[in-house]
Amino acid sequence: MPKPVKKVVIPVAGLGTRVLPATKSIPKELLPVVDRPLIDYVVSEARDAGIEHVILVTGRGKSAIEDYFDHAFELEATLKAKGKNDILANVEKTIPRAGDLSYTRQQAPLGLGHAVWCARAIIGDEPFAVSLPDEIVPHRPGFLRQMVDAYENVGGNLVAVEEVPQKDTSKYGVIAPKARKENLIEMTGMVEKPKPEDAPSNFRIIGRYILQPDIFPLLETQEKGAGGEIQLTDSMNKLNARQTFHACICEGVIHDCGSKLGWLQANADLGIKNDEFGAALADYIRARL
Ligand code: UTP
Repeated sequence: MPKPVKKVVIPVAGLGTRVLPATKSIPKELLPVVDRPLIDYVVSEARDAGIEHVILVTGRGKSAIEDYFDHAFELEATLKAKGKNDILANVEKTIPRAGDLSYTRQQAPLGLGHAVWCARAIIGDEPFAVSLPDEIVPHRPGFLRQMVDAYENVGGNLVAVEEVPQKDTSKYGVIAPKARKENLIEMTGMVEKPKPEDAPSNFRIIGRYILQPDIFPLLETQEKGAGGEIQLTDSMNKLNARQTFHACICEGVIHDCGSKLGWLQANADLGIKNDEFGAALADYIRARL
């Protein structure tokens, strides 16, 4: 049995340039989908996967995320005094147990690899998960739960993947496959944004990873990759030369809310599934088409 995964790193220090100007003065990770911010979906998914400790890698202008996970005494007292107990319960359930959430700060958005490296002292010498908060998985079991279950069988390192049309490979990081067994593909590496004719597969990497701590010395070199950023993929490729990596084909839908279209699609999808107003929203959309 491999060492259990108890911690998740959630990097939230990026600039969110693809959804500007919305993200000029609010963090991308607090954009709402229906009634909850993106970060809430990702933290809930981690909790459901049995993760005990969440590490948020924050940056300048992101302190509203810390407030979201804290008590808001005036708000809570007002809701209580007015007897709005359902709303109060909904607000209170977002707050983690004290000490279950840590923050570390990435002083400059130098890339995803650098953001993950910033969490090294809190992770220590154990395997850990990484979840990117702009990709949300609304259904259960979430992708991280499915990956933790797979990890318990195969150990090593895992990335989540989904199949995309071959013509779209140049938009994503894709895996180079070795052998497939049911929903797990052993990998030989990852390629960033390959042309369709050069792509080693059409499985794109999604923002969910399980990594061994051996990734940290590789990130430590701070080597810049694509776009002049310190890329996580570059160090994962180096680690793949000496440790196993499996791609986990997860069941269910993931919404990429880091783009305007993806965020609107997530709101439409979850909106029409909402118990309270989903049917009314679906009627409205039909009428508008
Ligand atoms: P993205 O590349 O999707 O986010 O990184 P971004 O850089 O904020 O967005 P764009 O491309 O400019 O629109 C995925 C996650 O990694 C975090 C982001 O906050 C996001 O949650 N991230 C990215 C960091 O924490 N630090 C970085 O240096 C880069």
